[in-house]
Amino acid sequence: MSAERSTSGPELLLTLDRSAATPLRVQVETQLRDAVRTGRLGAGERVPSSRALASYLGLSRGVIQECYAQLQAEGYLISRGGSMTRVASVSVGTQTPPTKSEPRPAPRLVADFESGVPDLGLVPRQDWVWAVREACRVAPNSALHYGDPRGDLTLREVLSAYLRRVRAVDAHADQVVVCAGFQQGLGIALQTLARRGVTRVACEDPGSIGLLTAAAATVGSETVPVPVDDLGIDVAALAATDARVVILTPAHQWPTGVVLAAERRHQLVAWAREHDAYIIEDDYDAEFRYDREPVGSIQGLAPDRVIALGTVSKSLAPALRLGWAVVPNELLDDVTNAKRIADRCTSVIDQLALATLIESGRFDRHLRRMRAEYSERRDTLVEALATHAPHVRVTGLAAGFHAVAHLPDDADEQDIVDRALALGVRIFGMARYTSTGDGPPRLVLGFGNTSTRAIRSGIATIAELLNETP
Ligand SMILES: Cc1ncc(COP(=O)(O)O)c(C=O)c1O
Repeated sequence: MSAERSTSGPELLLTLDRSAATPLRVQVETQLRDAVRTGRLGAGERVPSSRALASYLGLSRGVIQECYAQLQAEGYLISRGGSMTRVASVSVGTQTPPTKSEPRPAPRLVADFESGVPDLGLVPRQDWVWAVREACRVAPNSALHYGDPRGDLTLREVLSAYLRRVRAVDAHADQVVVCAGFQQGLGIALQTLARRGVTRVACEDPGSIGLLTAAAATVGSETVPVPVDDLGIDVAALAATDARVVILTPAHQWPTGVVLAAERRHQLVAWAREHDAYIIEDDYDAEFRYDREPVGSIQGLAPDRVIALGTVSKSLAPALRLGWAVVPNELLDDVTNAKRIADRCTSVIDQLALATLIESGRFDRHLRRMRAEYSERRDTLVEALATHAPHVRVTGLAAGFHAVAHLPDDADEQDIVDRALALGVRIFGMARYTSTGDGPPRLVLGFGNTSTRAIRSGIATIAELLNETP
């Protein structure tokens, strides 16, 4: 029988072999020395008190004190003025960690027009902390087990009420599946459809073609780009493909900013019914609608044909990784199962916190504040362009926090993007979001995470570039 005694104190794991000829004191000493040499114990780290270690190892405290004294004498440990014992800062033979290249400091920008990012400085941190604390305070112990893979019922009820109220989604709590943002909802939806043989996926062009193609590929599906015009996706062009599912952003097309016209919505639903097809609706930034009443979600028109995906990445912060899918009944079991296999369930504490935030009215309050904020930035951008580049037309302004600037036909989009960056202004051309890499020269200007001051100085800085005719 092994005479080993393995002990894992809260602080340090040492293994003693009581049947070995080597004295226990030497075993402890050797293991501690090796722990320092190999870097298992790093410079400055505290070692357990001699009393605690002795008690865990079932040895006398004197033996441990002797070990520590020996290792101090050898320079491995240090103990100052009776305070706790630590690993000496110059430890002999410690392995050098692999060298990492130093991250380069980001260039200082006058303005960054990156799109799709909400104001990260105005994320309601205090409200979130409050909501997490509330969630932890009131949740029963049973809520801390794995949750329902569809999500916590409280949140699903709160979300379905919210989506009915704000987005005219035809949502019952049973059809809501909480997921880790749009991205996970998309993956699960594509997986569910691929299992039913739906592997040709239409996507908007321009759009997030690269990301969507990569997501489709993970389930063996392929994307088919379909052009977007001033009314949104071209449904006739969609019908001419063999796709049986389309991913689209009807409320505020990404990235053109076009709102899907009413007649196109009806054509799209008719297409889905006729072809036994599905619509994956990416409702990413619809909470921020400025000049008209928010356009309802397409899901409301055809709940049996639409998987509506939502996210808090724009309304709160991308880092939270919270979103939802409203799923047709027919797909619900498969989607739930895919979610269970993906990660069992989304963090229950985070779900409860989101439910608390929405129910308390703090979420709406935050949205009201941000709507006013983004609206001011949008006006500032329009004004700055009107002042510095009056011939540049701006579109896509109805919602969200990005707009499209249309450059003169003969302008060189990429050249302007590159030269703007050299002047400290980060802008993005439309070409990178298209399937062919060409099209009329346009800039996608995000203003969610850009202050009004930066918007003004950014546009003033690149005014000459915008006014140039090659
Ligand atoms: C078009 C579009 N949809 C959805 C999202 C949000 O994705 P997620 O919820 O996974 O953060 C983004 C994020 O940038 C986006 O650009």
